[in-house]
Amino acid sequence: MTAILKWAGGKRSLIQAILATFPPDYAERTYHEPFLGGGALFFTVKPKRGTVNDINPHLINFYRIVRDEPDKLIKEASKYPYDRDTYYQLRDRFNEDGLPPVEDAALLLYLNKTGYNGLYRVNRRGVFNVPFGTYKNPTIVPEEDIHAASEALTRVELRNEDFSYLIDTAHEGDILYLDPPYEPLSRTSNFNTYSTNGFPWADQERLSKTIRELDARGVLFVLSNSEPVKKLYKGFRTTTVHANRSINTKTTGRGPIREIIVTNIGKRAIRR
Ligand SMILES: C[S@@+](CC[C@H](N)C(=O)[O-])C[C@H]1O[C@@H](n2cnc3c(N)ncnc32)[C@H](O)[C@@H]1O
Repeated sequence: MTAILKWAGGKRSLIQAILATFPPDYAERTYHEPFLGGGALFFTVKPKRGTVNDINPHLINFYRIVRDEPDKLIKEASKYPYDRDTYYQLRDRFNEDGLPPVEDAALLLYLNKTGYNGLYRVNRRGVFNVPFGTYKNPTIVPEEDIHAASEALTRVELRNEDFSYLIDTAHEGDILYLDPPYEPLSRTSNFNTYSTNGFPWADQERLSKTIRELDARGVLFVLSNSEPVKKLYKGFRTTTVHANRSINTKTTGRGPIREIIVTNIGKRAIRR
């Protein structure tokens, strides 16, 4: 099955490389994905139990509604026509506080499918500001994918917090896939503005410390990111892959870029 949302840093192109690092019995293990985003890997693995998490409250509300009230979501999102004026009206509505959860989820779906490049971007004040995108007949409400996602989400716990919850949640033998915001090649690039507070280098360091603690406990992990974080994972197996990044804020930044996959699992080579 495919992910419902397009998400910056979406992992569709790396799925096979990541799965190749997993142990053969991965589908039987407890699975955790603390930086869910579009959840491309989660919706491929469809684990039997575990947790999925993201710090973005709109995103986790969306997945809760997909899981618990998929028909209401489909009905609400199907009401919205695809045109520029409606897009900007609905974008203003999405930026209001305290919306009913089904409406908030339906608006997120609509804006994701009709906004420019499927980006999720907010300004410093947390206001969603992605412009209208021009598509030919976009599918705004992928009903089958929503029902399939609903089913996959019933088997895991959905959380909305910082990744550090893993310290109390991940146990020996569990499998972890981590796709934190990319460390930009230069810090002037604003590519990783997923939320108002972003993910500074101090968070990359905090994450690597957390992972070392979990590794010592026997938790299996695979992490993907860009090359600058490599120095935080000395001692682990690191492979460089050429990923076709699907979304970037600068057109010049498109095309294959070097990403790394870091893991404490096995010795099998990752080939692409
Ligand atoms: C690179 S994206 C994940 C992309 C995803 N793997 C996919 O296939 O679409 C990173 C995600 O981490 C989330 N995030 C940022 N800071 C976080 C934190 N401290 N704890 C948990 N999630 C965080 C962002 O909201 C964003 O959705």
